[in-house]
Amino acid sequence: MIVKAEFSLNCLLVAAFFTIAGSNLSAAGANSPRERLLLDSGWKFHLGNEWGFAQNRAKAGTGSGPASQSFSDASWRTVNLPHDWAVELPFDQSADAGHGFKPVGPGFAANNVAWYRRTFELPKEDAGKRLWLEFDGVFRNCEVFVNGWFVGHHESGYSSFRYDITDVANPGGKNIVAVKVDASQFEGWFYEGAGIYRHVWLVKTGPLAIAPDGIFVYSQFKNNVPEGPAEIHIQTTVLNKLANRAIATVVAEVVGPDGKIIGSAQSQDGVGPDAQSEFEQTISVSKPVLWSPETPKLYKVVVKVFGAGSTDHSANPKETIDLKENEFGIRTVAFDVEKGFLLNGKPYVLKGTCNHQDHAGVGAALPDGLQYFRVAKLKEMGDNAYRTSHNPPTPELLEACDRLGLLVMDENRLLGSDEENLRRWKGQIQRDRNHPSVVIWSLANEEFRVQGTPAGRQVALTMQNFVKQLDPTRPVTYNAPVGNEFPGINSIIEVRGWSYHIGTSNMDAYHAAHPNQPNVGSEQGSTVSTRGIYTNDPARGYVSAYDTGATKWSNTAEQWWSFFAKRPWLSGGFVWTGFDYRGEPTPYGWPCINSHFGVLDTCGFPKDNFYYYQAWWTDKPVLHLLPHWNWPGKEGQDIDVWCYSNCREVELFLNGQSLGRKTMAPNSHLEWTVKYEPGTLSATGYNGGKVVAETKVETTGAPAAVQLRPDRSTLNADGEDVSVFTVSATDAQGRVVPVAANSIHFELSGPGKILGVGNGDPGCHEPDVFLPQFSARSVPLNDGWRWKKSPDIYDPKLAEFKTNFDDSTWETANPQSASGPLGERDQAVYRVKIQVTGPDLAARAVELRCGMIDEDGWVYVNGQPIGESHDRQVPAVFDLKPFLHPGENTIAVAVVNWGGPGGLNKGVTLEFQEKPVAPEWQRSMFNGLAQIIIQSTREPGEIKLTASAEGLSPATASVPSQPCTSRPAAP
Ligand code: GAL
Repeated sequence: MIVKAEFSLNCLLVAAFFTIAGSNLSAAGANSPRERLLLDSGWKFHLGNEWGFAQNRAKAGTGSGPASQSFSDASWRTVNLPHDWAVELPFDQSADAGHGFKPVGPGFAANNVAWYRRTFELPKEDAGKRLWLEFDGVFRNCEVFVNGWFVGHHESGYSSFRYDITDVANPGGKNIVAVKVDASQFEGWFYEGAGIYRHVWLVKTGPLAIAPDGIFVYSQFKNNVPEGPAEIHIQTTVLNKLANRAIATVVAEVVGPDGKIIGSAQSQDGVGPDAQSEFEQTISVSKPVLWSPETPKLYKVVVKVFGAGSTDHSANPKETIDLKENEFGIRTVAFDVEKGFLLNGKPYVLKGTCNHQDHAGVGAALPDGLQYFRVAKLKEMGDNAYRTSHNPPTPELLEACDRLGLLVMDENRLLGSDEENLRRWKGQIQRDRNHPSVVIWSLANEEFRVQGTPAGRQVALTMQNFVKQLDPTRPVTYNAPVGNEFPGINSIIEVRGWSYHIGTSNMDAYHAAHPNQPNVGSEQGSTVSTRGIYTNDPARGYVSAYDTGATKWSNTAEQWWSFFAKRPWLSGGFVWTGFDYRGEPTPYGWPCINSHFGVLDTCGFPKDNFYYYQAWWTDKPVLHLLPHWNWPGKEGQDIDVWCYSNCREVELFLNGQSLGRKTMAPNSHLEWTVKYEPGTLSATGYNGGKVVAETKVETTGAPAAVQLRPDRSTLNADGEDVSVFTVSATDAQGRVVPVAANSIHFELSGPGKILGVGNGDPGCHEPDVFLPQFSARSVPLNDGWRWKKSPDIYDPKLAEFKTNFDDSTWETANPQSASGPLGERDQAVYRVKIQVTGPDLAARAVELRCGMIDEDGWVYVNGQPIGESHDRQVPAVFDLKPFLHPGENTIAVAVVNWGGPGGLNKGVTLEFQEKPVAPEWQRSMFNGLAQIIIQSTREPGEIKLTASAEGLSPATASVPSQPCTSRPAAP
C-alpha cells in the first residue's frame, strides 16, 4: 500500500510518511477532549411573548424575562426536540393556505413568538475547553441567550448555525440557554413549521482543536473516472484559541467499509494565537469500494491532532488534543452533454423526487428515524435521487441518504450574493460537502422575477464561483421554470435545470441551441392525486388518483417520464413531489389543507402512481391494479381499471373470467373498462409467455377489526428511535377494507410516547398532536407586605432577608399600585410571610409572579437568594417550590430604584401549577389507513399500543424497546 502525504504551503514541518496497516493509531485518540452532546431533551417551552423587552440589551449579561438566569420556567411545558409548535395549532380557514392553514405568520401575532429554555450542568473540568452550541435549524429568526448573555441572532429557518459560548459558560455549575423564536415571517410558500425543529448540540473541544466543519474529505480519480487508485484529499482546519502560537500535528487515517485502516498521513504546522491553519493531506486507496445508491459503502477518515498544548515547543505525539471522525464515500460524479448524469464514470439515470421536510403527525420536526423511514419508502419505489427543495436539509437527512443510498441535489433557499446569503451558502457547503450522497448543488428555485436579468445572471455567477472555491468536485444547477430561454442564469449555469416545460420546442430546441451545456430535470411532474380517491371532489378537496390530474404548468407521471426516458441527455429528473406536504393545496383550497403532488401521501402511504414509478424505475416485476373493488350501488356500471406493470403482457380477470390480455408499451400503463360486479378483480403478468406476477383487489365486507402493524420489530431505548405503526381495518374474513373511515382511539403503555398521528387525508382537520391540559391556581399575594428603606441591600446576608427578622414596625406596602413609594436612587426591602401546606407543595410548580419590580430586584425566600430582576418593563417570575416548606415562609425583595417613583408594583401572585392531564389520542382512518408514530424513552421495556374503534375488535401491538448505547447527550 502506498501512502502519500501532501502539505499546504504554510506547513512548516513535514513529518515522515509512514505506513499503516495494522497500526493502532486510532487507539491513541482515546484522550481527546472532544465531546458532541445532543441537547434535545428536557427543554421548557412557552408559546407567546409576554416580555416585550425581554431581550433587553442595554446591559451585558442581564437578559430579562425568559432570557434572565433567574426567570422561572417551572410552569412551562417540557418538550423534547425536534419540536414544531405550528403542527400543534388547530387549522384555521383564515390562515395562509400555502402554509397549510395553520394560524402562524401575518395576522396571528399570539402564535408567532415562543421561548425555549434549557438548563444544563457543566462539570468543572470543562474550564479551559471551547464550548459551542450548535443548532441544526430553527424556524426562524431566533435570539439566543446563555446565562443571561446575548450570544447570537440567526434569521433563516433553514441554515445551521453555532455559537462559541466559552466566555459566558459556567463550568462547574448550572447553565441556561434561552431561545426566542419568531416565526411571524415566512420564507417559503409551503408549510414551514415553527420552533427548534432540528437537533441542538453542545460541542466541547480543547483550545487547540479541529475547527467547526473543519474537515473536508473528498476522493478524486485521474480523469474523473474510477479506474486505478482513488486519491483521498483531506483538508483539516485547526483552530487555536490559546494565547500563544502552538504546534499541531495532524494525523489522518482512512478506514475502509470493513473497519480496517487503509492508509494514513501526518503533517505538522504552527498555528498562531486566535488563528487557524489548514492542513492538506492525500492518501491513496488502491482498490476503492465505490459508493452508489445500490452499494452505499462508507469510508471514514479519522483525524487526530497531537500537540504540545499552549507551548511553542515541538509536538508531543503522546498528547491527543483532538479526534474527529468523518464518514465519506469514494465515487465520481459528472454531467455529460449527451449521456446525461454519470456516476462512477457511467451513465446513471436520475429517478428522483423533490421533497419538503414535513411529515404527518410531527410537522417539520422529524426524529431521525423518520428520515430513514421516508428515504426507505422512496427507495422502495425505485427512487435513487432526492432534491432538498427548496432549502438546506437537516444533516440527518443527508446521513440517511449516505447510508441508504440516494443521490442528493442540495438546494439553497434564496438566490443572493449579499454578504449574509453567501455566508449561509458557505455554511451549507462546508457542512454538507463530505456527504457522498450530495452530487450537485442547486443555487435556488424558480426566481421568476430575476432569472432572465443581467443582475440575476451576475448573482448566480458569483454564487456558482463561490462553490468552486469550497468544493472542486460537484457541479451546480438552478431550477429554471422557463423553456428554450438562455439569457440570465441559464447562460452561466453549469447544468441547465428544467422546471417543467417538457416538449420538443422547449427541451429539444434548447439542447440543439446549447449543445455544450448538460441538463437535468430538476423539477417535473406535479401530478395531483389523492390516495384511494377515484373521482374529483372539490367539496372535500380530493382529486382522482388515476394519473390524469396535472395543473396547467405540469404533467402527469406518464407524460413527463415517458418524455425523459427517451432522452438520456436530460439525465433523468426529480418528481414534484415524493411525499405530499402541508400547504399549497392544489387544485382546490379549503377544506383541503395539504398538497396532492406526492407519489406518497403525508404519512408515506403509496398512492397508485407509486406503482407507475416502481414499474419503470425498478427491475423487479410490478403488477398493480386500480381502483379498489368496493363500489356498492355501481353494479353494472362501467369502471375504468388501470394497471401499472413492467410485465410485457397483462391479463385481467373479473371473478375468474378473462377480460383480455394486453401488451404493455414501455413507460406506459394498461386500461380496461369493466362493468362492476362485486368479487375479485385479478391480473396476471407475463414475460415471454411465463407468469411473473399476480395481483388482485377484492370487494370486502364492512370493517370488523382494527389492525396494527409496526414498521419495526424492536426499538432502541435511546429516547430517539421511532416506530411507525400502520392502522387499518379488516373485514370478517381478514381482508383490509380500502374505504374504512372509523375513528380510532389509541392507548400506549410502557416506555414510549406518542409523537403524532395522521391519515394522509388532505381534507382532514383532526389534530395531529394531542397536548396535555395544563391548569394553575392563582393566589393573589398583595396583602401583608411591609417595606423599609435600607442602605445595604446588596449584602445577601442582610438580617432583613432572614425569616426571623422583626418587621412589625415597617410601613405596610401595597404592591398592587401602579408605581411605588421609592424615590430616585432609593433602596428598600419588601417583606411578606406566607403559609403553605403540604398539599400546596404537591403542585407541579409554585411560582412567584411580580407584576413589576422597579427597577432592580433581588428575591430571597427564607433567607436564601432565589433570583434577580433587572427590567421594570416585564413581569418577574421566580421558581419558589424548591425553597418552600410547609408552614410559614418569608419572602423578601430588595429593590433599587434609579429614577421616578419605584418599588414592588402591579400586583404579586402565587401560582400553584396543577399536574397536567394526559391527552387522549385518536385519529380517523382515511381510505382504510391511519398512522401513529411512537418514540422510545431511555428506559428499556415493552411498548404496547392498543387501537380501538366503536363496533370493531381492538388491536394490540407490542414493540420491545431494547437497551442500547444512546448517543451522548447533555445531562
Ligand atoms: C413549482 C415550485 C414548487 C411548487 C410546485 C407546484 O413551480 O417550484 O415549489 O410550488 O410548483 O407544482
